Amino acid sequence: MSEEVTPTTPPPADPSQDGPAPGCHAETPADPERRGFLGSLSSLAMAGGLAAGYGTFGCFAARYLYPAHAAATGWMFVCEVGRIAPGEALAYKLPDGAKVVIARQGSSGAAEDFVALSSVCPHLGCQVHWEGQNSRFFCPCHNGTFDPSGNPTGGPPKEPLPRYPLKVEDGLLFIEVPLEGLA
Ligand code: FES
Repeated sequence: MSEEVTPTTPPPADPSQDGPAPGCHAETPADPERRGFLGSLSSLAMAGGLAAGYGTFGCFAARYLYPAHAAATGWMFVCEVGRIAPGEALAYKLPDGAKVVIARQGSSGAAEDFVALSSVCPHLGCQVHWEGQNSRFFCPCHNGTFDPSGNPTGGPPKEPLPRYPLKVEDGLLFIEVPLEGLA
């Protein structure tokens, strides 16, 4: 008795499926277009990534090669050294309107005798003055105190008073000020 074998036929293709049937690698006319599109897309993404990478590198390189210039400054005459006695101070106004207090804390006649600080309190902007007898800068608004270098020592201020460089030449005191914004 022989076994009957019925020939099998492949199942009909499912029209709802977009691609070829599993195991089937036949190309449809749309495949080359899709591949081309995907290829272009990935090339574009790669080019974008490279451009971003090189751009970032370029920025860092430019910053290294061409560092930002420090603000231009210049020396301004303040007064003769003898004009401020040891323990006393002078109120000074910079060309840009900034208010400065210059205190004399020594008697050698050198620039180290003097300290020039912004006299604007970092708390709420009141005027700070030098108290020679207490060797401190004082803000009367809320009893803010600063040491002889302008560092906060009491009261609400938490930030130091900005400091300006000074120099003495031939008995004359000069202060270094920013020139930005001045004609
Ligand atoms: S404004 Fe100077 S302590 Fe408040």
